[in-house]
Amino acid sequence: MAHARLRIPILSTITTTAVKFSKTSFHVYGRHICHCSSPVSVSQQQQQRQPQIRSPQLVALEYADLSIPHIVCEELGALRVRQHVNPLSSTLSIPVEVPDWNDVFEDPKLPLVMDIGSGSGRFLMWLAKRNSGSKNYMGLEIRKKLVTRAETWAKELDLSNIHFVFANATISFKQLISTYPGPLMLVSILCPDPHFKKRHHKRRIVQQPLVEAITDGLMPGGQVFIQSDVLEVACDMRKYFDAESAKLVFDSDFDCDNEGWLLSNPMGIRTEREIHAEYEGGKIYRRIYRKLS
Ligand SMILES: C[S@@+](CC[C@H](N)C(=O)[O-])C[C@H]1O[C@@H](n2cnc3c(N)ncnc32)[C@H](O)[C@@H]1O
Repeated sequence: MAHARLRIPILSTITTTAVKFSKTSFHVYGRHICHCSSPVSVSQQQQQRQPQIRSPQLVALEYADLSIPHIVCEELGALRVRQHVNPLSSTLSIPVEVPDWNDVFEDPKLPLVMDIGSGSGRFLMWLAKRNSGSKNYMGLEIRKKLVTRAETWAKELDLSNIHFVFANATISFKQLISTYPGPLMLVSILCPDPHFKKRHHKRRIVQQPLVEAITDGLMPGGQVFIQSDVLEVACDMRKYFDAESAKLVFDSDFDCDNEGWLLSNPMGIRTEREIHAEYEGGKIYRRIYRKLS
């Protein structure tokens, strides 16, 4: 990945040392295979890839800055979480209790960055560590074990500007945001579960009510950053956010290709899914929007 450089204050200028691998003809998403355009064969790809390095090790390398070796060991080891949960199940349709914001953040009036579907949480922790004292970070995640572990790690890292919530974002986002004492400066939805089958598309996280709640909840000038390694999912998310053009516009501070996808990652750090996908030769489709003042 090229060094990412930001030109706006919300996302600060950071560079990253990502490891880039050669192109391949497909990448795997769970049991699904996503086809990409490169003609390189699987065996060529396997030869081109450095044999000793595995994708989880790349994740550990990318997050080496977090400097907690035992965290990495644990991540590579025992924790077993279900690959997917059904966000439409009745047990996940109860809104979470709003926390006492003074309990979860040292300064609950700081601008908030919200990551929806935060997974392991390391992406947010990396950012929180760099921006302590100036921004708060909140991860919403529907798999409880990931939240418990992320909270443990955040405590070990002594971060007082990050909080993870076990929540179905579809159900709880609006309530959480409307009670937060500070402004909402950025919402990210990064590599959401693709739910490939047509009859499961309604399980996808980006749906009209959430998009409206995000758009309304953002501060003027606030941003939405979306990405996926699955073109169809990226297009689906984009369709929803593009439709908010009365309030939300593509952020022209960022360069994009002819199709309107960002040329590079503006965050300075890749998410775990992003690392896995790029390792498999996949492309990441990204968009960034800014709320009109
Ligand atoms: C493919 S993972 C991506 C994780 C991370 N963003 C990344 O890029 O590595 C998608 C995450 O979204 C979570 N998720 C799915 N539906 C959700 C929902 N309705 N509310 C909150 N989290 C959800 C999943 O549990 C999973 O951890």
